[in-house]
Amino acid sequence: MNTHVRITDVAPRDGLQAEQSVVPTSDKATLVGLVQQTGVEEVEVSSFVSPKWIPQLGDAAELFELVAASKPEGVLYSALVPNMRGLEAAIAVNQHAREEHGIERLIDKVSVFAAASEGFSLKNTNGTIEEVLQRFEPLIPKAHEHRMMVRGYISCIVKCPFDGDIHPVAVADVASRLLEIGVDELDLGDTIGAATPETIEPVIMETIDRLDGRATNGFGDPTLTLHLHDTFGRASDCVRMALELGVRSFDSSAGGLGGCPYASTETTRAPGNIATSVLVHTIREEGYTTGVDDAALQRAGEFAGGLLP
Ligand code: HMG
Ligand code: MG
Repeated sequence: MNTHVRITDVAPRDGLQAEQSVVPTSDKATLVGLVQQTGVEEVEVSSFVSPKWIPQLGDAAELFELVAASKPEGVLYSALVPNMRGLEAAIAVNQHAREEHGIERLIDKVSVFAAASEGFSLKNTNGTIEEVLQRFEPLIPKAHEHRMMVRGYISCIVKCPFDGDIHPVAVADVASRLLEIGVDELDLGDTIGAATPETIEPVIMETIDRLDGRATNGFGDPTLTLHLHDTFGRASDCVRMALELGVRSFDSSAGGLGGCPYASTETTRAPGNIATSVLVHTIREEGYTTGVDDAALQRAGEFAGGLLP
């Protein structure tokens, strides 16, 4: 049995995008540096989204420039892109890194993000689910042309802060569309941390069904990742369920930072991601392995925690 579980630390992106204060670029670079030393396979470094929508990450290109020289062998860097403009910014960063630092590919993967609910799709990306998917269609072959992998997020897989409960088939339908337009992997986001093992099981099952037996992709990585936010302390129970169902890739954030500002409502603030330390502990308890080093993870978690007021 394959017991290795892959981890993407999303703290520099999901962790910092919703904060009131804007973290200085040099501190973000320190965070990336600490996170990449923990032994996770991938770091989600930033987003090439509209700075009008997410001012906290308006320095993505500068951040990549700061971390370029210290990117370790074997760690992937990824970034969110909502449209062609975002992808072009990622391509420009890679081109600059090639010319200035001789780095073949600084950003290995771009992530497009759709939603399973119309309410969140409109709030987060100013388009219906179908409109947003259509924005991705020309973007994905262009990312591949520039030798970047593409992750496809689906938000609100169990519950939407605006539309309420989401049917697992609605999630799987978006998964099918993302696969059809060429993403290399899917990432299921429980954006507001509403999932329980009972509610997440059918979502994972329906999605695995659409993957039609493809547990790994052309790069040898798992085709399915789970991205949990931890509002009610059920995220680790959901990890256990997902492991049982065959999921071998998870997102988490150093220090448990995180949250999408467009998932907050007037009364409820969007919750943080499952902390990487909690995820690693859960994975080990279930008899699986990660490449994570506890002392390095503690250093990253402490630094992450200290970044916020
Ligand atoms: P829009 O307003 O419809 O777009 O937003 P637009 O094309 O009309 O552009 C508006 C302005 O933004 C224009 O500037 C564009 O040039 C600029 P102006 O002409 O007014 O000066 N612009 C850009 N600037 C830089 N980079 C770009 C870009 N695109 C447009 N790529 C849009 C549509 C998708 C752009 C906007 O809604 C957006 O950026 N949304 C991003 C929201 C976001 O980042 N949310 C958080 C990430 S998703 C998440 O957290 C969930 C996840 O963690 C999983 C989970 O937990 O479920 C992934
Ligand atoms: Mg998230």
